[in-house]
Amino acid sequence: MNLKQLAAIKAVEMIEDGMKVGLGTGSTAYWAIQEIGRRVKEEGLRIETVATSQASEDLARELEIPILPFSEIPHLDLTIDGADEVDPQLNLIKGGGGALLREKIVASNSDKLIIIVDESKSVETLGAFALPVEVVPFACEWTLAALERLGCKPEWRVKDGEQFVTDNGNYIADCRIERIEDAPLLEQQLNRIPGVVDNGLFIDMASIVIVACSDGTIDVRN
Ligand code: A5P
Repeated sequence: MNLKQLAAIKAVEMIEDGMKVGLGTGSTAYWAIQEIGRRVKEEGLRIETVATSQASEDLARELEIPILPFSEIPHLDLTIDGADEVDPQLNLIKGGGGALLREKIVASNSDKLIIIVDESKSVETLGAFALPVEVVPFACEWTLAALERLGCKPEWRVKDGEQFVTDNGNYIADCRIERIEDAPLLEQQLNRIPGVVDNGLFIDMASIVIVACSDGTIDVRN
Protein backbone atom coordinates (compact mmCIF):
# COMPACT_ATOMS: atom_id res chain seq x y z
CA MET A 1 0.00 0.00 0.00
CA ASN A 2 1.40 3.43 -0.87
CA LEU A 3 1.50 6.33 1.61
CA LYS A 4 -1.26 8.30 -0.10
CA GLN A 5 -3.54 5.29 0.14
CA LEU A 6 -2.63 4.78 3.81
CA ALA A 7 -3.61 8.36 4.70
CA ALA A 8 -6.75 8.11 2.58
CA ILE A 9 -8.00 4.95 4.28
CA LYS A 10 -7.51 6.52 7.72
CA ALA A 11 -9.56 9.56 6.65
CA VAL A 12 -12.37 7.53 5.14
CA GLU A 13 -12.77 5.71 8.51
CA MET A 14 -14.17 9.03 9.78
CA ILE A 15 -17.15 8.88 7.42
CA GLU A 16 -20.36 7.69 9.06
CA ASP A 17 -23.65 6.52 7.63
CA GLY A 18 -25.89 9.37 6.52
CA MET A 19 -23.07 11.93 6.13
CA LYS A 20 -22.80 14.45 3.35
CA VAL A 21 -19.24 14.37 2.05
CA GLY A 22 -17.09 16.56 -0.19
CA LEU A 23 -14.74 14.72 -2.53
CA GLY A 24 -11.36 16.35 -3.12
CA THR A 25 -9.13 16.33 -6.17
CA GLY A 26 -5.70 14.93 -6.96
CA SER A 27 -3.71 11.74 -6.66
CA THR A 28 -4.26 11.42 -2.87
CA ALA A 29 -7.97 12.26 -2.99
CA TYR A 30 -8.17 9.58 -5.71
CA TRP A 31 -7.41 6.95 -3.07
CA ALA A 32 -10.01 8.39 -0.71
CA ILE A 33 -12.65 8.17 -3.44
CA GLN A 34 -11.59 4.60 -4.16
CA GLU A 35 -11.94 3.69 -0.48
CA ILE A 36 -15.32 5.43 -0.24
CA GLY A 37 -16.41 3.43 -3.29
CA ARG A 38 -15.31 0.24 -1.57
CA ARG A 39 -17.22 1.08 1.61
CA VAL A 40 -20.35 1.99 -0.37
CA LYS A 41 -20.19 -1.29 -2.27
CA GLU A 42 -19.00 -3.70 0.40
CA GLU A 43 -20.36 -2.16 3.61
CA GLY A 44 -23.50 -0.54 2.23
CA LEU A 45 -22.32 2.86 3.50
CA ARG A 46 -25.10 5.36 2.78
CA ILE A 47 -23.76 8.83 2.00
CA GLU A 48 -24.32 11.68 -0.41
CA THR A 49 -21.42 13.52 -2.01
CA VAL A 50 -20.39 16.50 -4.12
CA ALA A 51 -17.13 16.68 -6.08
CA THR A 52 -14.50 19.42 -6.37
CA SER A 53 -13.60 18.63 -9.99
CA GLN A 54 -14.90 16.94 -13.08
CA ALA A 55 -12.23 14.25 -12.68
CA SER A 56 -13.37 13.38 -9.14
CA GLU A 57 -17.02 13.44 -10.18
CA ASP A 58 -16.31 11.05 -13.06
CA LEU A 59 -14.43 8.68 -10.73
CA ALA A 60 -17.23 8.78 -8.14
CA ARG A 61 -19.84 7.97 -10.77
CA GLU A 62 -17.72 5.10 -12.06
CA LEU A 63 -17.58 3.68 -8.51
CA GLU A 64 -21.35 4.22 -8.07
CA ILE A 65 -20.92 6.66 -5.20
CA PRO A 66 -24.09 8.77 -4.91
CA ILE A 67 -23.21 12.23 -6.21
CA LEU A 68 -25.65 15.12 -6.11
CA PRO A 69 -25.84 18.63 -7.56
CA PHE A 70 -24.68 21.36 -5.16
CA SER A 71 -28.21 22.78 -5.07
CA GLU A 72 -29.40 19.61 -3.35
CA ILE A 73 -26.75 19.59 -0.59
CA PRO A 74 -26.62 22.95 1.19
CA HIS A 75 -23.92 21.95 3.68
CA LEU A 76 -21.39 19.15 4.14
CA ASP A 77 -20.40 17.17 7.23
CA LEU A 78 -16.87 16.69 6.00
CA THR A 79 -14.59 16.99 3.01
CA ILE A 80 -11.52 14.86 2.37
CA ASP A 81 -8.86 16.40 0.16
CA GLY A 82 -5.13 16.41 -0.52
CA ALA A 83 -2.69 19.32 -0.30
CA ASP A 84 0.60 20.37 -1.85
CA GLU A 85 2.10 21.70 1.39
CA VAL A 86 1.06 21.68 5.05
CA ASP A 87 2.70 23.82 7.76
CA PRO A 88 2.69 23.28 11.56
CA GLN A 89 -0.36 25.60 11.95
CA LEU A 90 -2.22 23.36 9.46
CA ASN A 91 -2.24 26.11 6.86
CA LEU A 92 -2.03 24.74 3.35
CA ILE A 93 -1.03 25.33 -0.23
CA LYS A 94 -3.48 23.66 -2.57
CA GLY A 95 -4.23 23.86 -6.28
CA GLY A 96 -1.43 21.81 -7.82
CA GLY A 97 -4.18 20.08 -9.77
CA GLY A 98 -5.85 23.38 -10.62
CA ALA A 99 -9.07 22.78 -8.65
CA LEU A 100 -8.34 25.29 -5.86
CA LEU A 101 -11.42 27.49 -6.27
CA ARG A 102 -13.92 24.65 -6.15
CA GLU A 103 -11.90 23.06 -3.36
CA LYS A 104 -12.02 26.24 -1.29
CA ILE A 105 -15.75 26.70 -1.84
CA VAL A 106 -16.44 23.11 -0.83
CA ALA A 107 -14.05 23.22 2.15
CA SER A 108 -15.59 26.41 3.49
CA ASN A 109 -19.04 24.82 3.40
CA SER A 110 -17.94 21.73 5.32
CA ASP A 111 -18.05 21.26 9.08
CA LYS A 112 -14.67 19.52 8.84
CA LEU A 113 -11.89 19.57 6.27
CA ILE A 114 -9.74 16.44 6.53
CA ILE A 115 -6.45 16.79 4.67
CA ILE A 116 -4.54 13.68 3.61
CA VAL A 117 -0.86 13.83 2.65
CA ASP A 118 2.31 11.82 2.62
CA GLU A 119 5.18 13.16 4.73
CA SER A 120 6.84 14.88 1.74
CA LYS A 121 4.12 17.57 1.93
CA SER A 122 4.87 18.54 5.52
CA VAL A 123 6.99 21.74 5.69
CA GLU A 124 8.04 24.31 8.29
CA THR A 125 7.22 27.29 6.06
CA LEU A 126 4.90 27.33 3.04
CA GLY A 127 6.18 28.45 -0.35
CA ALA A 128 8.66 26.00 -1.87
CA PHE A 129 5.70 24.64 -3.85
CA ALA A 130 4.66 27.33 -6.34
CA LEU A 131 1.47 28.98 -5.08
CA PRO A 132 -1.37 28.67 -7.61
CA VAL A 133 -3.49 31.79 -8.21
CA GLU A 134 -6.64 31.53 -10.33
CA VAL A 135 -7.04 34.49 -12.69
CA VAL A 136 -9.91 35.44 -15.04
CA PRO A 137 -8.83 35.56 -18.72
CA PHE A 138 -10.02 39.18 -19.22
CA ALA A 139 -6.97 41.50 -19.19
CA CYS A 140 -5.02 38.68 -17.57
CA GLU A 141 -1.64 40.27 -18.41
CA TRP A 142 -2.58 43.22 -16.18
CA THR A 143 -3.45 40.86 -13.36
CA LEU A 144 -0.13 39.07 -13.87
CA ALA A 145 1.66 42.43 -13.64
CA ALA A 146 -0.13 43.14 -10.34
CA LEU A 147 1.08 39.78 -9.02
CA GLU A 148 4.61 40.69 -10.10
CA ARG A 149 4.38 44.01 -8.24
CA LEU A 150 3.44 42.09 -5.10
CA GLY A 151 6.71 40.14 -5.49
CA CYS A 152 5.03 36.84 -6.36
CA LYS A 153 7.13 35.84 -9.43
CA PRO A 154 4.10 34.49 -11.32
CA GLU A 155 4.24 32.27 -14.39
CA TRP A 156 1.24 31.07 -16.38
CA ARG A 157 0.62 27.37 -15.99
CA VAL A 158 0.98 25.50 -19.27
CA LYS A 159 -0.28 22.00 -19.99
CA ASP A 160 0.57 20.07 -23.16
CA GLY A 161 1.96 23.26 -24.68
CA GLU A 162 -1.29 25.19 -24.11
CA GLN A 163 -2.33 27.65 -21.43
CA PHE A 164 -3.93 25.62 -18.64
CA VAL A 165 -7.65 26.34 -18.22
CA THR A 166 -9.46 25.47 -14.98
CA ASP A 167 -12.86 23.77 -14.71
CA ASN A 168 -14.19 27.34 -14.30
CA GLY A 169 -12.64 28.60 -17.56
CA ASN A 170 -9.89 30.60 -15.82
CA TYR A 171 -6.07 30.58 -15.94
CA ILE A 172 -3.59 29.67 -13.23
CA ALA A 173 -0.55 31.79 -12.39
CA ASP A 174 1.96 29.73 -10.38
CA CYS A 175 3.87 32.00 -8.00
CA ARG A 176 7.44 30.98 -7.16
CA ILE A 177 7.71 32.70 -3.79
CA GLU A 178 9.96 30.07 -2.14
CA ARG A 179 9.23 31.26 1.42
CA ILE A 180 5.90 32.76 2.49
CA GLU A 181 6.60 34.65 5.72
CA ASP A 182 3.01 35.72 6.43
CA ALA A 183 0.58 33.37 4.71
CA PRO A 184 -2.66 34.89 6.17
CA LEU A 185 -1.61 38.36 4.96
CA LEU A 186 -0.59 37.15 1.50
CA GLU A 187 -3.88 35.25 1.12
CA GLN A 188 -5.78 38.51 1.63
CA GLN A 189 -3.43 40.65 -0.49
CA LEU A 190 -3.78 38.30 -3.45
CA ASN A 191 -7.57 38.19 -3.27
CA ARG A 192 -7.72 42.00 -3.23
CA ILE A 193 -6.25 42.15 -6.77
CA PRO A 194 -9.10 42.59 -9.28
CA GLY A 195 -8.87 39.70 -11.75
CA VAL A 196 -7.74 37.22 -9.09
CA VAL A 197 -10.55 34.78 -8.41
CA ASP A 198 -8.85 33.01 -5.51
CA ASN A 199 -5.50 31.60 -4.47
CA GLY A 200 -4.21 28.30 -3.15
CA LEU A 201 -3.52 29.42 0.42
CA PHE A 202 -5.99 27.69 2.74
CA ILE A 203 -5.67 29.50 6.08
CA ASP A 204 -7.31 28.10 9.23
CA MET A 205 -9.45 25.78 7.14
CA ALA A 206 -8.08 22.30 7.86
CA SER A 207 -9.63 20.60 10.90
CA ILE A 208 -7.41 17.52 10.77
CA VAL A 209 -4.29 16.70 8.75
CA ILE A 210 -3.44 13.03 8.33
CA VAL A 211 0.22 12.50 7.42
CA ALA A 212 1.33 9.05 6.28
CA CYS A 213 5.02 8.51 7.07
CA SER A 214 7.51 6.29 5.26
CA ASP A 215 8.01 4.11 8.38
CA GLY A 216 4.33 3.12 8.03
CA THR A 217 3.05 5.28 10.91
CA ILE A 218 0.24 7.78 10.60
CA ASP A 219 0.46 11.17 12.24
CA VAL A 220 -2.96 12.74 12.91
CA ARG A 221 -2.62 16.51 13.53
CA ASN A 222 -5.35 18.85 14.73
C1 A5P B 1 -5.90 19.95 -6.61
O1 A5P B 1 -6.21 21.18 -7.16
C2 A5P B 1 -5.02 20.13 -5.44
O2 A5P B 1 -5.37 21.06 -4.49
C3 A5P B 1 -4.66 18.83 -4.78
O3 A5P B 1 -5.44 18.56 -3.68
C4 A5P B 1 -3.26 18.95 -4.37
O4 A5P B 1 -2.56 19.45 -5.49
C5 A5P B 1 -2.67 17.62 -3.93
O5 A5P B 1 -2.61 16.77 -5.01
P1 A5P B 1 -1.91 15.37 -4.91
O6 A5P B 1 -2.66 14.60 -3.91
O7 A5P B 1 -2.03 14.81 -6.31
O8 A5P B 1 -0.48 15.61 -4.55
